[in-house]
Amino acid sequence: MSLKVLIVGSGGREHALVKAVKKSPLLGSLECAPGNGGIARDCQCVPISADDVDSLAKYALSGAFDLVISGPEVPLSMGLADRLRAEGIAVYGPNRDGAMLEASKAFSKDFMKRHSVPTAAGEKFSDFSKAEKYIREAPFETVIKASGLAAGKGVIIPSNRDEAVSAARDMLEGGLFGDSGREIVVEEKMDGEEASIMLMVCGKDYVMLPASQDHKRVGEGDTGLNTGGMGAYAPAAVATPEILERVRAEIVKPTLEGLAKEGIDYRGTLYVGIMITKSGPKVVEFNVRFGDPECQVLMPLLESDALKLMYDIARGKLDAASVKISGGYSAIVVVCAKGYPGSYKKGDMITLPEDKDIPPSSWIIHAGTKADGGKILTAGGRVLGLVGCAPTLKGALEKAYNLADSVKFEGAFFRRDIGHRELNRNA
Ligand code: AMP
Ligand code: GLY
Repeated sequence: MSLKVLIVGSGGREHALVKAVKKSPLLGSLECAPGNGGIARDCQCVPISADDVDSLAKYALSGAFDLVISGPEVPLSMGLADRLRAEGIAVYGPNRDGAMLEASKAFSKDFMKRHSVPTAAGEKFSDFSKAEKYIREAPFETVIKASGLAAGKGVIIPSNRDEAVSAARDMLEGGLFGDSGREIVVEEKMDGEEASIMLMVCGKDYVMLPASQDHKRVGEGDTGLNTGGMGAYAPAAVATPEILERVRAEIVKPTLEGLAKEGIDYRGTLYVGIMITKSGPKVVEFNVRFGDPECQVLMPLLESDALKLMYDIARGKLDAASVKISGGYSAIVVVCAKGYPGSYKKGDMITLPEDKDIPPSSWIIHAGTKADGGKILTAGGRVLGLVGCAPTLKGALEKAYNLADSVKFEGAFFRRDIGHRELNRNA
């Protein structure tokens, strides 16, 4: 087999997917749209943006690709997979109907209720006065969520009921988050530790990748503003074997059965964000793609052929029992541009170690970079992700931090405490 593959997206997640797919003996040729500075060193990049679904579909058809892998959720929610499947191209990523689990938190909440999937109690609203009444009278503190896609920013965790009411008003009547906030979900504030569970799903069959945890706050000790993710590690021991068994039985089973019952033929990643509460694991959110930066730590732990796995799933057949996953640890440290997640400068030159100087089981993943002649320049807030794998978390972090110390650009910064919860747990 010699597969012609197109990966859609431009971040660290897509660079990790490119590297994983490139290891496969089944790969014939690989392209990425639009890619970034590091991806351009690993495969050909095509200048089509990930939300230009028309151009992507045309390009994939005219190029007779065998498989299209979507990194981000936006093209999926715009129907990229539907269009390609209708033309006979295999796609790793769900159709529009499945992508609704992420694109509409209202749909997702109703879906979980219909299929008795444990999640925070809550309701959807498009009328402010009804939302206010619910917030004031609920027997619990609430969080307010814009229903639509909001690039991970659409959730407000108020510290009291007045703040919750204001957040609901800002979204429903003040245009906060635009169209994404015209409908909101008001739900019970849950307490507990979070973990991300990534499933590679083919209908009712699935592979569960090791549980991971990301670090969303910009500052050490989990302080400061929310970001797209400053680091991550896997496996996360907070998701004990008992918890994972409960996740399989109480969350994954009814979810996949529910999708099938509703006629949704789901093929792709299902990201289950869970909160481990006193009464067990509950769903915080579903995403319909790999997490970023979680993908970057999971791909190196996948010992089986990632391309074969995604191609099989895309064609509706998955032999989950044959999939091999490493028993080791993986960690990523994200190096950001000064000012992120606020405004930051772009176009600074990045100095990187030469390939021959990168130690084994260590990877430089590009997120916000672009190639300019022979140089690599900063082009985003999260610039690089440095990944290390080792038999212990400490070893994995050491490798990631050694690499993080070896990359240079003006104003580069990163958190020194990635994995702190896990290290303290093990201490
Ligand atoms: P989401 O986009 O739904 O994952 O929400 C973003 C973040 O908000 C989550 O990772 C949690 O940290 C927090 N969050 C969301 N829903 C809740 C909830 N019901 N209770 C407490 N925290 C929540
Ligand atoms: N790391 C969180 C996400 O990808 O949504």
